[in-house]
Amino acid sequence: MKSSAPGKIILFGEHAVVYNRPALAVPVNQVQVDVEILDSDSAGVWIHAPIIDLHAELSTLQPDHAIGSVILKVLSLLDTSPSSTNIQINISSTIPVASGLGSGAAVSVALIRALSSFFSNPLTDNQINELVFEIEKLHHGTPSGIDNTVITFNKPVYFIKGQPIETFTVGKPFTIVIADTGIPAPTKESVGDVRRLWLKDNNKFENIFNEIAQISLIARRSIESGKPELLGDLMDHNHSLLQQLTVSSPELDKLVLSARDAGALGAKLSGGGRGGNMIALVNQAEASQVAESLIKAGAKNTIITEIK
Ligand code: PMV
Repeated sequence: MKSSAPGKIILFGEHAVVYNRPALAVPVNQVQVDVEILDSDSAGVWIHAPIIDLHAELSTLQPDHAIGSVILKVLSLLDTSPSSTNIQINISSTIPVASGLGSGAAVSVALIRALSSFFSNPLTDNQINELVFEIEKLHHGTPSGIDNTVITFNKPVYFIKGQPIETFTVGKPFTIVIADTGIPAPTKESVGDVRRLWLKDNNKFENIFNEIAQISLIARRSIESGKPELLGDLMDHNHSLLQQLTVSSPELDKLVLSARDAGALGAKLSGGGRGGNMIALVNQAEASQVAESLIKAGAKNTIITEIK
């Protein structure tokens, strides 16, 4: 039994989404997690995840182990006792870890999908989404739920915390370059810092969140109506608001400027900020040129992806 799950990237609305404003995120299918489940001759549940150098039997892992705890949760949901199960789980991934591309949520989605199908009890997307959200909460404190939603449904999502999931269609495909600063994104810290600022100067930060909400709304309409070229200015504006939230960094600002200099239509940081990724909207013909400039400006890795 095989299953996979894509990466994701936030286009608009990070941080404001924590305060119930809308955010837009899309799947990134150039990178993915693959999970394979096989019957095994050895007793127990054997996990092989070379990306994190994990080769172990489930019962030897700590109960709060990121991957082990997901497997235990699913097996208990499926009424399957781990001690009487002889399987091998192979996990591979091309999603960079801790860079805002949703690697953790993607591992959980692919694992749950593969395990529930292997035991002939495939869970629905809604069930998987809820379960992964529970798991995300254990590891990330107070996540908004955007990662698990986009990755489970593998569709662009207009996300408002606590509201029914709204996926949307892309009127005309467009190209994004994603560049990684190579600096781990301390999402918990940046979310905490924004909260402290919001508590101190509520009016100012509520206004910034409202401006970001407007951007997400207009961006969704532009994408749906086939006018993605309008996203460039919206990205620039969103980036300057994220700077005001103090979540950019010199490295992110440098990449954003160099993308614009190299011909991008707009650029912004994406995700928690302070590190992690930035994104740039480009004409397809200029994608490689912008990606090369980003590498010259210090990016450790780039991904060119078509949103469709
Ligand atoms: O760094 P990422 O891609 O996991 O995104 C974090 C997005 C925030 O809005 C800052 C936090 C959240 O939980 O939505």
